[in-house]
Amino acid sequence: MSLVEPSNPIRLLHPKLTVIITACGADGKCNAMTAAWAMPVSHNPPLIAVSISPERYTHKLISETKMFAVNVPDIKLFEKVRFFGIVSGRDKDKLKISGLKIRRGSRLGLPLIEDCVAWLECEVENSIRTGDHTLFIGRIVGSAVKKEFFVGVDVFDAKVFKPIMHLGGPHYTTTTSYEIY
Ligand SMILES: Cc1cc2nc3c(=O)[nH]c(=O)nc-3n(C[C@H](O)[C@H](O)[C@H](O)COP(=O)(O)O)c2cc1C
Repeated sequence: MSLVEPSNPIRLLHPKLTVIITACGADGKCNAMTAAWAMPVSHNPPLIAVSISPERYTHKLISETKMFAVNVPDIKLFEKVRFFGIVSGRDKDKLKISGLKIRRGSRLGLPLIEDCVAWLECEVENSIRTGDHTLFIGRIVGSAVKKEFFVGVDVFDAKVFKPIMHLGGPHYTTTTSYEIY
């Protein structure tokens, strides 16, 4: 066995399910950004946390309106996910350029990306500065899934759903197993 010290140890918590965060500003302009740092943090109340750098345009939008949506894409949206994760909404209208169909969330009216397979609408309950990112804690106030990607209504069907998993840097993977363990 040969042990080595990783140069970027936080990558050891990857691969991570990659999502698209959508949010709108006080002026009504909306944006989409790719995020791998998103996780559940409470069952009751249902809370999730997303970690977003203040350098992101999305950070400004969420800070202004205190709400965001999480869109869960599958591997078919890989190129769009890369686009949303490289270009900033400060410079370009990413949602428009992407050509993706948008619908408005039933609870908060946030833009939701139709081609995704699941959506969460969240109201920000709290935010914590964590080093060079901000952890936005969002209460889930609305959610929906495309039934065909799920066993029941809340367990992803591994036979159908192929997630975009971020390994770090330019590296990604997805699942190939058809088993549910
Ligand atoms: C796979 C992937 C995952 C990312 N995850 C995050 C993340 O969790 N938090 C974050 O602040 N930025 C993350 N980024 C970077 C932002 O998506 C990127 O800087 C984006 O251009 C910001 O867009 P905006 O300025 O329109 O908000 C990620 C990028 C990629 C490609």
